[in-house]
Amino acid sequence: MIVETRIGSDLQEAADWLQRGELVAIPTETVYGLAGNALDEQAVVKIFEAKERPLYNPLIVHVANSGQVSALVQEWDQQVQALMDAFWPGPLTLLLDRSPAVPDLVCAGLPRVALRMPDHDLTRLLIEQCGFPLAAPSANLFGRISPTTALHVLDQLDQRIPYILDGGPCMVGVESTIIGREQGKWKIYRSGGITQADLELVIGPIEMITQSDMPVAPGMLPWHYAPRTPLALNEPPPDSGDRIGWLRFSTLSPLVPGEWQFVLAPDGDLYTAARRLYAGLHELDALGLDYLIAESVPEKGIGRAINDRLKRAAMVRPQ
Ligand code: TXA
Ligand code: MG
Repeated sequence: MIVETRIGSDLQEAADWLQRGELVAIPTETVYGLAGNALDEQAVVKIFEAKERPLYNPLIVHVANSGQVSALVQEWDQQVQALMDAFWPGPLTLLLDRSPAVPDLVCAGLPRVALRMPDHDLTRLLIEQCGFPLAAPSANLFGRISPTTALHVLDQLDQRIPYILDGGPCMVGVESTIIGREQGKWKIYRSGGITQADLELVIGPIEMITQSDMPVAPGMLPWHYAPRTPLALNEPPPDSGDRIGWLRFSTLSPLVPGEWQFVLAPDGDLYTAARRLYAGLHELDALGLDYLIAESVPEKGIGRAINDRLKRAAMVRPQ
């Protein structure tokens, strides 16, 4: 169905749409989310439809207070509490055993629900005002580049949702880190805004799960976050054409026209690079070049999340 999509920062208008079972794009510190009432299966169906996302790929539920957490999960222990105390609100998603209140569709039938409390005042106020938690995947079409501004959302979801709540550009810029426990051992299923070292300070050793042993997070598909222009890592492939755009880490290349380059972090800081990652991909993609080449960033801290997204963006997508 075609609807008019409005952009604004009117909390009441956003809450009204959500309370009527409609969808609103919401700002968070990581990326914009495409939100609907997590407890209303019909609203959740609309999220999958608007994004063209397959139903086997579960959604993260966003909460604003611990009362909402209690309603969504079984009891949690001190380690989980310590993680919430240390990192919420913030870019950490916890997989916890779900309560019967969570619709099956939100979790794609899996035994755990993914929860996080976003570090964005406007969105936490919105959740409080609605009185229900919000299910929200990133507000992009399935498999495409995640949005870090309201205009990025409009680019992909215009006429699919009634309202985009504009909360400014996202301050972290890559998605949340997703963790959970298996047989008592902590695992990182997706690298993100909170680093392995950050987590280990609170809960001790935590293992990074690699793509091949990841049945638990079906949404961690290899091809993801992709621009329309084909993208390769570090080296142009032989048939990449003449007009090549470069996503660089900290310096311009003297060999390429300046307007075909985007430098992620002129200051060399990985947090700057994360914040500008998706804007850089959106901008280069809009140039309509033959190919994009992304330079890997140092594989440490939040750089691991950046390289992870770049690798997935570079994968050839099955038709
Ligand atoms: O930063 C973020 O996490 C953003 C903002 C909007 O909060 N959201 C986000 O959502 O990145 P999405 O849908 O693009 O990615 C969520 C990932 C998917 O890969 C999904 O498979 C996994 O989380 N996931 C969600 N619920 C799960 C569950 N119950 N069990 C296992 N994996 C789950
Ligand atoms: Mg996503």
